[in-house]
Amino acid sequence: MTDGRLKQIRESEKQSHIEIYSNSGLYKEGSWLRKPIKTVLEIIPHLAGASRLNVLDLGCGVGRNCIAIAQSFKNIPCKIDCVDILELAIKKLYDNAEELGVASCINGIVAPIENYSIKENEYDLIIAVSALEHIDSEESFLTKLSEIKNGIRSNGIVCLVINSDITENEKSTGKEIPAQFEVNLPTKKLQTILENTFSGFEIIKTTVSEQQYDIPRGDIVSDLKTKVVTFVARK
Ligand SMILES: C[S@@+](CC[C@H](N)C(=O)[O-])C[C@H]1O[C@@H](n2cnc3c(N)ncnc32)[C@H](O)[C@@H]1O
Repeated sequence: MTDGRLKQIRESEKQSHIEIYSNSGLYKEGSWLRKPIKTVLEIIPHLAGASRLNVLDLGCGVGRNCIAIAQSFKNIPCKIDCVDILELAIKKLYDNAEELGVASCINGIVAPIENYSIKENEYDLIIAVSALEHIDSEESFLTKLSEIKNGIRSNGIVCLVINSDITENEKSTGKEIPAQFEVNLPTKKLQTILENTFSGFEIIKTTVSEQQYDIPRGDIVSDLKTKVVTFVARK
């Protein structure tokens, strides 16, 4: 991917997230921020009984998933490293965590995921929801998956939700437009990469779900179609 194309995708992503994070409240009706994703809620019972938790949320946004985790583990020492490229996301994450009484668990980091180096054997849970497809290249994506694998402690859980086979068309004309994603893998290839990277892990969930979204892209609305791969596994 050229530097120009990467810059253009990042700018478009930044604008669409600034719009939603500025205009929609966390856990309020009216946008995808209205509740944590089901898969993250399903993981929580798998961690019950832990005496302390160290969590990493890559591309955390304003805390939709990590705040729900923090609330569930309020009674034990729980630290969540939350990485997002967007300064506004981390600011709102802290505001939301404060409001919901879990600010002491949250460690916000403004950085691109590709630059955040994951320490080995550091985390009991690593989540990345609709984020890894925004790593700057396929090569960095593979490197990051391998860091995730090594960053999980024994018995720890990885929870990845990644868009694949994404197409975008201008809604009003049907004209195809370039998908605004840095990494857009064929679904089968992505599933194989995940299975190979996390071989030896116990697979808790692996699904593919076809989804459609209307996404504002500057002056137009994009009809975005995606196959969302969900992969949850325990080391
Ligand atoms: C679709 S949102 C999902 C946010 C959150 N995971 C959730 O489920 O609510 C994607 C988030 O990833 C962030 N992001 C995009 N590219 C990124 C990158 N290269 N490094 C870090 N964060 C990135 C965006 O700023 C945005 O907050």
